[in-house]
Amino acid sequence: MSGAFDDLTVPTLTEQLGEQGYIADRGLATTLLLALKLGKPLLLEGEVGVGKTELARTLAEMLGRDLIRLQCYEGIDTHHALYEWDYARQMLHVRSLSQAELASSDEDLFSERFLVERPLLQAVRAGEQCVLLIDEVDRADDEFEAFLLELLSEFQVTIPEMGTVKASTRPIVILTSNRTRELHDALKRRCLYTWIGFPPHERVVAIVRSRIPDVSTALADQVVSAVNRLREMELEKLPGVAETIDWTTSLEALGAQSLTEEIALDTLGAVVKDRDDLEFTTKSISDVVA
Ligand SMILES: Nc1ncnc2c1ncn2[C@@H]1O[C@H](COP(=O)(O)OP(=O)(O)O)[C@@H](O)[C@H]1O
Ligand SMILES: [Mg+2]
Repeated sequence: MSGAFDDLTVPTLTEQLGEQGYIADRGLATTLLLALKLGKPLLLEGEVGVGKTELARTLAEMLGRDLIRLQCYEGIDTHHALYEWDYARQMLHVRSLSQAELASSDEDLFSERFLVERPLLQAVRAGEQCVLLIDEVDRADDEFEAFLLELLSEFQVTIPEMGTVKASTRPIVILTSNRTRELHDALKRRCLYTWIGFPPHERVVAIVRSRIPDVSTALADQVVSAVNRLREMELEKLPGVAETIDWTTSLEALGAQSLTEEIALDTLGAVVKDRDDLEFTTKSISDVVA
């Protein structure tokens, strides 16, 4: 469709992501490849810290494209996401006009010079193809999700005072969700979808080693095993990939060669981030570091 990704294959895409430090499994690389080839938005769902945001960042870097990021949150609306009128400048302008000029100037106040672009408008109007990351869309409310549909299907947005703006170059759109709530079918229908689970042992070791090149495989392996044991305990907050990386970084910083009970206790705060969990894991440290 777009043509630019015609020659790209799953192995080359995986390799290119790998060169940027991102380890993708076959399923993820395949869905991403299809999203690129078909020019469709990609919806990534999965628990916190499995590399959803990082994939968008890495992709932009890899392709040499700008990353435009919209972080969603409860209550986000079009003024944060799409555009805003520069009220202060409009006021100054109005004050500078005479009565007669003022009478004929309402249209001017809603023109380009008073328009403030927010991420979605920026992405649609970008001269070159960019990567648009709509991050943590599950935090936004239903209304905002519905508003996104026009963008996701037509690659266009509507500004009431100015009309419809259509992208001349379709942005590469990546949406992420931590699945704190179910997204609507209408949104999913417009996207390719993939679920990113917590990766298997070997892949987490590979991720840790790609992020911390100096770490020994033995230490990385030990830390990942310990994290896997933590993930089997009944904790409030399960440690993810980010915590695994943080823990290993802490151990490295302290010059630890291996994960002993003693050093694990000293550094537990890098991986267990809940008071009750910390109390529980401190008591059962011998089960964590086997
Ligand atoms: N597959 C992966 N390859 C490389 N780094 C990863 C991978 N998955 C997670 N990470 C690292 O884990 C951390 C959390 O990733 P992030 O993208 O912020 O998670 P999410 O957006 O899914 O919550 C980042 O430091 C990222 O570099
Ligand atoms: Mg994220």
